[in-house]
Amino acid sequence: MYEQASHAMLNEILMELKPEIGNYRLRHFYTRLGANFYAIHSLFHLLYGERPDFKAQMVSLVETLAVRYMARSPQLRKSDLARERDYNWFLSQKWVGMALYCDRFADDLKGLRTRLPYLQDLGINMVHIMPILDCPPTHADGGYAVRDFFKVDARYGTTEELEALAATLKKRDMLLVLDVVVNHTSNEHEWAQRARRGEKTFQDYYYVFDDREMPDTFEETMPEVFPATAPGNFTWDEVMGKWVMTVFNNYQWDLNYRNPAVLIEMIDIILFWANQGADVLRLDAVAFLWKKIGSTCQNEREAHLLLQLMKDCCQVTAPGVLFIAEAIVAPSEVAKYFGEDAINAKECEIAYNATLMSLLWDGVATKNAMLLNLGIKHLPNKLERATWLNYVRCHDDIGLGFDDNDARLSGYDPVQHRHFLIDYFTGRYPGSTARGLPFGTNPKTGDARISGSLASLAGLETALESEDPVAIETAIKTIVLLHGVILSFGGIPLFYYGDAIGTLNSLEYLADPFRANDNRWMNRSNFDWDKAALRHQSGTVEQRIFNTLKKMIALRKELNAFADFDNRQLLNVDNPNLLVFLRTDIHHAHNGRSRVLVVSNFNTDAQRLQLGALRPHGLFQQVAMRELCSGERIMVEDDAVMVPPLTCCWLID
Ligand code: GLC
Repeated sequence: MYEQASHAMLNEILMELKPEIGNYRLRHFYTRLGANFYAIHSLFHLLYGERPDFKAQMVSLVETLAVRYMARSPQLRKSDLARERDYNWFLSQKWVGMALYCDRFADDLKGLRTRLPYLQDLGINMVHIMPILDCPPTHADGGYAVRDFFKVDARYGTTEELEALAATLKKRDMLLVLDVVVNHTSNEHEWAQRARRGEKTFQDYYYVFDDREMPDTFEETMPEVFPATAPGNFTWDEVMGKWVMTVFNNYQWDLNYRNPAVLIEMIDIILFWANQGADVLRLDAVAFLWKKIGSTCQNEREAHLLLQLMKDCCQVTAPGVLFIAEAIVAPSEVAKYFGEDAINAKECEIAYNATLMSLLWDGVATKNAMLLNLGIKHLPNKLERATWLNYVRCHDDIGLGFDDNDARLSGYDPVQHRHFLIDYFTGRYPGSTARGLPFGTNPKTGDARISGSLASLAGLETALESEDPVAIETAIKTIVLLHGVILSFGGIPLFYYGDAIGTLNSLEYLADPFRANDNRWMNRSNFDWDKAALRHQSGTVEQRIFNTLKKMIALRKELNAFADFDNRQLLNVDNPNLLVFLRTDIHHAHNGRSRVLVVSNFNTDAQRLQLGALRPHGLFQQVAMRELCSGERIMVEDDAVMVPPLTCCWLID
């Protein structure tokens, strides 16, 4: 019944479209619109069905989809068709990503083209260029306070240069990932400027209030994202004479998706960047999309409905383009951003695996894998045709987002354990060699997160200063161990640009008054090309890290068992220092490499892995195994193998 009504609506809408759309050859567009319209209409109705202008808004949405489809280049349409046929293409183990700032890694977009050989040398074939859209020069939040969603920032280049880069990447079989900041705009964005000048239409794009009544009510249940630098969730705007919701920095105005015009604008922006040749779009801060009095204003059901709508609309116009959900939220919530229920299942194909990331760091500090094992065991199932973005470090802080219950099961008091981790990574804990800083300390709750580069957090900075070869080796091993896990876990590993050469904390940011109070900039340094050149020099730290990672990346690409088809089995072993999982190639008959046992030892001593527990899985009938990364044979003695300290082994029978 409802489906019929939705069909009737579709016909009416098609009649109402502008004649230039009606006359255009839109065969694939109409097929895809037909296939997705029921979902789009139902979702749009759920969100905006009560509004008198519901139908006009639907027409405007479909028009947006059609206009962007008409602008989509023949090459991109061809790639859409190919990806529709080979719809699991991104689950392959062949993809390995890196996130980088185009100005800090190269000078600009043009420069980035000349730096691609470095990425290819390492084996990177997916490039996430951190946000490059027009931002105010000072209040930019690293590119996440966008002033113009349709313009590349002049500091980085032009839209044409980006398109040229996209074409170059395509030729090299590399994927381009771009950011779309969906939750907020800069206060200098045209919409905000017009709102400030009193235009009601644009005040309705944001959460704007005359007095403190509503803000105070919201504040009762909303946590703070940047408690140290931007406390509270509302900012008084002098020009407008009103309060505006600013969940992140006070110059980042939250968009109000209760207004369908906002959603349609954002879908238009998404499709615009899809049309510039992005293969994947990283949707920023998606957990925050819907605000509701009495809630934390995160992970609301409507935020999921909005993402489903964005996805369904993208399926109509640019079906080859994938979404990454950047939702750094509780483990139980993260997997929901893939989509949940059977009908409106689709949201983002890829999601940041923040749980794994933070638990890897727990393993580094505790030197055991207890919490890590529990966290992985309790990681909610994801949909098929969805995959994790596994990472060790990124441009943001490390949140300690593990599950409190898992902490208790590991024998920790969750609050004390978080304090321990902060102390450990800020180097205050006795014996810690880590060199991070606390980030976002909240005096009201006592919470904090951690900033710092991978190498400095792993102890390399301290080790180099003390010129202690053993400590240097330990830090290098830690860096490689963490990458070993993300390369084998299942999902797309995402490297961070300085990490393969052991980039230390940078203090440049302190000289910039607009950055000095945000220590996430410690880990956003200018890439040091002289240091990178040392990767060619035998025995250097850079060479030891880079070459090992390069080998592991190449190996990963060869191992079908590392593709992500829900083919990871976590194995219980009786050694708390080890994380052990089995990866199986589900598509091919058994051969020597169809099953890989991944064993990670987080301890600084070698650990025994008893093989008895693995026998029920048909593993290890042999007297020796091969470790693929080193190529070495590991002997079985007393029905056990010894796993070297701080090592991630990829073992085959
Ligand atoms: C995301 C970004 C972060 C930014 C925030 C607000 O979490 O990763 O860098 O500050 O969104 O846009």
